[in-house]
Amino acid sequence: METVVSGIRPTGNLHLGNYFGAVKNFIKMQQEHNCYFFIADYHSLTTHPTPADLHGSVKQVLAEYLAAGLDPEKSTLFIQSDLPEVSELYLLLNMNAYVGELERTTSFKDKVRAQPDNVNAGLLTYPVLMAADIILHKASKVPVGKDQEQNLEMARKFARRFNHMYNQEYFPEPVPFNFGEQLIKIPGLDGSGKMGKSEGNGIFLYEEADSIRKKVMRAVTDSGPTAMNQEVSEPIQNLFAIMKQVSTPDTLLYFTEKYASCEIRYGDLKKQLAEDIVNFTAPIREKIIAIKSDEAYLSKVARMGAIKARESAQKTIKDVREIIGFKAF
Ligand code: TYM
Repeated sequence: METVVSGIRPTGNLHLGNYFGAVKNFIKMQQEHNCYFFIADYHSLTTHPTPADLHGSVKQVLAEYLAAGLDPEKSTLFIQSDLPEVSELYLLLNMNAYVGELERTTSFKDKVRAQPDNVNAGLLTYPVLMAADIILHKASKVPVGKDQEQNLEMARKFARRFNHMYNQEYFPEPVPFNFGEQLIKIPGLDGSGKMGKSEGNGIFLYEEADSIRKKVMRAVTDSGPTAMNQEVSEPIQNLFAIMKQVSTPDTLLYFTEKYASCEIRYGDLKKQLAEDIVNFTAPIREKIIAIKSDEAYLSKVARMGAIKARESAQKTIKDVREIIGFKAF
C-alpha cells in the first residue's frame, strides 16, 4: 500500500478539469492506498481572498469532494490550514530552495504576467509549500493534472536535496500519477488552453443545466472540415477531448466519423456534448446541495480528517527535527 497525497485550491467551485484531472483519480486511489486529500487554503491566499470568501470556498470544495465520491472513511480528507506542521516543513524546506530556481518555474512566470501588482513571496515559494504538503506524509504518488507536472518535479528535487544534505533516505521522491496513462489536460471551450479558474472558462460540477448548455453552445469552433480525414483544429480537438470524458464511446465514434467524412454539424455535436455534461454533473450537483446543507456532517468530516492528518504529520516533523539537529534542552 502506497501513500498518496493531493490537493485542490479553494478558489471557486470545482470544474471539469479538476474532476477529470484529479478528483476522478482520487476516487480510484482511495480504494487501495493510504490517501490524504486536502483543500489547499494556504495556497489560495496568494490571490488574497476575503475571510468570508475563503471560508465559503473551503466549505464548498469539501462538499464537492464528498459529492463527487470521496469517502472520509477510506481516505483522509482535511483542510491544509488545520495542519500547522505543514508550515514548519515549508519553513525548513525554504532554507534549501533557491530563488533562481523558483523564479524560473513556469507557473511563477505566468503569475507574474497575470498579476503584476501582486507578485508576493508566497507565489515564489508556492512549489515549496506544495512539496511540504506532499512529503509531510512521505507520499510516493500524487494524482494531478498535466499542469502540475513541473511542481511535482520541484517536489522531487526538494525531497532529494533534503535526503542528500542529511545523508538519509528519508523522503520518497513523489511522482505524478494517472494509473499508467499520460497526465490529463482538460481544455477550455474558448479555443485554446486549459480549463481553469483563473482562465474564467470553467464548466463546474455545481453549475445549473441551462448555464452549461449556454456555455457549450457558445464554444469556439472553426468553419468545418473540407477534405476527408483533414487534421482537426485545436478548438474542435478540445470539444472532442471533453466528449471523450463525458460521453459514451459510441457517441465519440459517431462524431469522429462524421468529422472524417466532412458531414459533421457542429450544432449537433455541441447539443450532444452539452447533454452529456449535464447528465454527468446533475447528480453530483444534487449531492453537493444536500451535503452543503448538512453543516454538522461537514464539520465532523473536517475534524476527523484533521486528527488523522496531524498524526502522520507530527511523526514526520519529529523525525525531521531530529535529522536536522534540533534537540530539546
Ligand atoms: P488547482 O487547484 O489549480 O487544481 C487542482 C487539481 O486539478 C487539476 N486541474 C486540471 N487537470 C486537468 N485539466 C485541467 N484543465 C485542470 N485544471 C486543474 C490540477 O492539475 C490539480 O491536480 N497547486 C495545486 C494544489 C496543491 C497540490 C498540493 C496538489 C497544493 N498542494 C500537493 C497536489 C499535491 C493547484 O493549484 O491545483
